[in-house]
Amino acid sequence: MSSEKAAPAILICNPDSKTSSEISKCLKENNYSTVQVHNGIEAQIKMSKQKFHTVILDMDTQKHTAFEVIRYIKFNSPSSRIIFTYENQKLMDELNSDNDFAFKLGIHFVMKRPLDFKALLNNIESNNLAQSWKNVKKIADVVNETEKSIQDEEFTRIAINQYAHSELAIFDLYLRIGQNRYLKILYKGCSFDNNKIEEYQKKKVEFLYFKTKDRGIYINFVNNLIEKYLDQGKINKRELLNLNKGLVEKYVEEIFFKGLNPELYEEGKKLAENLYRTIKASKSLGRYLDQFEEEEKNGTSYIFVTSIFAGAITHQLEWAGPVAHKYVIEGSLLHDIGKIKLSEDVRYTKLESMTPEQFKEYKEHPLWGMQMLAESSFISEQVRQITYQHHEWVNGEGFPNGLFGLRIFPLAKIVSLAGDFSEFIHEKKVSPLVAIKEFIADRETIFRYDSSCIKSLITSFIY
Ligand SMILES: [Fe+2]
Repeated sequence: MSSEKAAPAILICNPDSKTSSEISKCLKENNYSTVQVHNGIEAQIKMSKQKFHTVILDMDTQKHTAFEVIRYIKFNSPSSRIIFTYENQKLMDELNSDNDFAFKLGIHFVMKRPLDFKALLNNIESNNLAQSWKNVKKIADVVNETEKSIQDEEFTRIAINQYAHSELAIFDLYLRIGQNRYLKILYKGCSFDNNKIEEYQKKKVEFLYFKTKDRGIYINFVNNLIEKYLDQGKINKRELLNLNKGLVEKYVEEIFFKGLNPELYEEGKKLAENLYRTIKASKSLGRYLDQFEEEEKNGTSYIFVTSIFAGAITHQLEWAGPVAHKYVIEGSLLHDIGKIKLSEDVRYTKLESMTPEQFKEYKEHPLWGMQMLAESSFISEQVRQITYQHHEWVNGEGFPNGLFGLRIFPLAKIVSLAGDFSEFIHEKKVSPLVAIKEFIADRETIFRYDSSCIKSLITSFIY
């Protein structure tokens, strides 16, 4: 990390002074400033006097327990991130019996002692990087546009009408003018020139480009922006969905590019929360989605449409509460992650054109996805089960296990329907409103799904 800026302060609360000194030494070597305390009361006193970016809190903390300190942070310093460390695996398993312990308490990252310092640093660093848009300083506006020779592989693109911006450009922004040739149109720190972007739109420019290394920053920025809009209730639902759509696309790209790490998962949880709130605020999602121009057939918009419909179905189901709703959206965002392991020829072949061998391989992706998520302790069991069972049908004709109705995890039934409906929209190249009529007209099709889910999907189209 850069040493030019003030180092973020980190509070280390651990009853064992040797462990806390080791953590402190490692962080200081990487330009962080640290404060060490050895009990909960000291931690709270320090936090009442100074703001900490991160609190590394150990489970064995006494004289206010770790849980009392967490409660204190929640009410008095909610922006501080909590990294929770523990040594006693048995106690941890008991605490985490529903796999939801960290989520419920607002803990950002859980680590077992002895600590892997590299993983600890990575966690803190990646969070800092993603939030670096908050620290962009204003520079004198640069009017000139500069042509650059940069490899195409270094860039990611976003539809020009989907790009979300703040007053200042949070990173450099480009147009692609040829193979490995780009025009730098906005410099990081300059005022964001909306007129310039509108001029390009008039000239039928479709995409803006930025460096792939900045994608995590963009995801964090848009996630925060959506949250702000939702809090203020000012933005219209169409714009909100458009922002969410762009965000999901970039999020899925980032997962496929980097793999899922705790920070990205955390970002996904926030994204799921924002989608949940967007869905709750929209009476008829089907209608809103209907206004979208026809989607290009790509994996990421499929994920967005699936997440939206899965959320909409859950919203209508009487038995599903807010927690289930969030799991469903998280599961929708991640359910196809196992496709990363498919060979390229299978990944890019349409289902109906697959050879039996290719289809056999394709049917492995729910299992592979579940296994990938099982490697990460921070993923909840509910999300794993959604991933594993998202191609099961209640008539027993799905895969990988051909489970019948009652044996299928209820939340997976929702994602199964939402995913197949999203696929149907893309296949038929029709709007969601036309698609739903055709979809439910086919009796053979609807027997694959839970009837209450079908009913909820239909209801989501009604004003
Ligand atoms: Fe799938």
